Amino acid sequence: NHKFDSVKQVLLGDVGTGKSSIVLRFVKGQFVEFQESTIGAAFFTRTLSMNDQTVKFEIWDTAGQERYHSLAPMYYRGAAAAIIAYDITNPATFTRAKKWVQELQAQGTAGIVMALAGNKADLLEARKVTAEEALAYAQENNLFFMETSAKAAINVNEIFHEIAKRLLQS
Ligand code: GTP
Ligand code: MG
Repeated sequence: NHKFDSVKQVLLGDVGTGKSSIVLRFVKGQFVEFQESTIGAAFFTRTLSMNDQTVKFEIWDTAGQERYHSLAPMYYRGAAAAIIAYDITNPATFTRAKKWVQELQAQGTAGIVMALAGNKADLLEARKVTAEEALAYAQENNLFFMETSAKAAINVNEIFHEIAKRLLQS
């Protein structure tokens, strides 16, 4: 019956993949069509109860614009968990996600729990990255994978629950 005070959690991924939208959905249950591009980073918290344990997520939502790349280590340093987001309609964002995974594997916390989020899963007709390809990549690189939609509220709570579950097991 141990209780986490807090879990530092970071979101990384290319510009426009929906990182802020995923956090907004998780923390406030909201979605906005014209979400502004993040400048620097934004901070949010939400506490999840898991059986008799609680996990307080302290979430750093980073800016995907390349000019902010050099700030990223401040946000992932010491992070126990990371969500790396790409947009299933944009293959370049999947390539960028793999770069973030490499960077976290090289510079991130040892044993960090990493989740790969294929976001905008509501846009199935515009899909360019298959779930099979992303799943294979995730399995090879020791992450877990979910397709999410901040807009349609698909797998957003689930991805944070899975992170909490894995943190509590570790
Ligand atoms: P940066 O802060 O610039 O790095 O971008 P971001 O990754 O935070 O993306 P953001 O949440 O700002 O979303 C970018 C755009 O995609 C916004 O217009 C959102 O409304 C839209 N969007 C985000 N998630 C989804 C989704 O699941 N489905 C659809 N259809 N649109 C989404
Ligand atoms: Mg953002």
